[in-house]
Amino acid sequence: MSDIQEGTINALKKELTATSTSAQLDSLTSKYFSRKGILNDLFSKINSVPADEKQAYGKEMNTLKAQAETLIEKKRVELSKKPRKGTWVDPTLPGDTLPKGSLHFVTYAIEEITRIFERIGFSRASYPEVEWEYFSFESLNMPPGHPARDDFETFFIDEKSHSKYGRMVLTPHTSSGQIREMMRVGVPIAMINIAKTYRPNWDVSHTPMFHQFEGLCIDRGINITNLKGTIEYFMTSFFGEGRKMRLRPYHFQFTEPSFEVDVSCDICDGSGMIDSKTKCRLCKSGWLELGGAGMVHPNVLKEGGIDSEEYSGWAFGFGIERVFMMKQGLKLDDLRTVYENDVRFLEQF
Ligand code: PHE
Repeated sequence: MSDIQEGTINALKKELTATSTSAQLDSLTSKYFSRKGILNDLFSKINSVPADEKQAYGKEMNTLKAQAETLIEKKRVELSKKPRKGTWVDPTLPGDTLPKGSLHFVTYAIEEITRIFERIGFSRASYPEVEWEYFSFESLNMPPGHPARDDFETFFIDEKSHSKYGRMVLTPHTSSGQIREMMRVGVPIAMINIAKTYRPNWDVSHTPMFHQFEGLCIDRGINITNLKGTIEYFMTSFFGEGRKMRLRPYHFQFTEPSFEVDVSCDICDGSGMIDSKTKCRLCKSGWLELGGAGMVHPNVLKEGGIDSEEYSGWAFGFGIERVFMMKQGLKLDDLRTVYENDVRFLEQF
């Protein structure tokens, strides 16, 4: 080893011993390796070396450079393993917060509705989303070609028809679970059927997939008072005290008598007016419709194998998205927002 080589390496070693931070190591690296650094300076001295010694000098410089690199690299590894001195860490500081996920608010609503009805002895049922025409219509007193079927515009599935049950459909309402429940359970029945339902509509108040919850109660001596009391119980539990309800005469093939059920609007307190001049934008009349209800038609009971002389029952079917919107007083003017999956909207619930 030549004097230059040895002297340089020793000097570097000494400086490395005194180095304790990576910032110091960085400046030491540039002291040796930068364009105007020690090594380049030594390399450039090759010009003043006699011609026959140039080759040996060059070789020596290359070895020196490699040795210096190794030493510096070793130090860098050493420093990276060493806990940094002088950096004060407060272990009691809270960590970074991660964004919190949540369930879709329709799922929360389903859970809440299930709990409310379980408390009064109803059992949750689930029936097929892909259903036969028979359960969606015929068994509900709507024979093929009956105009009432137009109220339940339906998606049909390209599948072979069933000899008894007809074509395959995406169930347009949870009422298709009524006959299935009668066949499966028999009397008495206290069912809450919550499911996805499908109709080919897409506008501000409709999405092609939505949810309904269907109550069905059949026993001896069941009457309208009982239906009204149950809906009132649901409303108080779900919306809180102070909301009014009304049953409005209506027509469904599978209930007689039939009603639509309205709840008083939360935004205008049931008055239909925001102030003396402004109509309520959401309800316009003080009332909002939740869905249909009525006393189960004797033909439907018969179809389900239940003696309509001895037993009676009621049913209702409400839309979940719509019920939920009324609870929150959201003033949501486009129902499609619910399924656009914009996190900025969804994370508010
Ligand atoms: N199935 C009806 C609808 O979707 C609602 C309903 C259910 C009406 C039960 C009466 C009884 O509109």
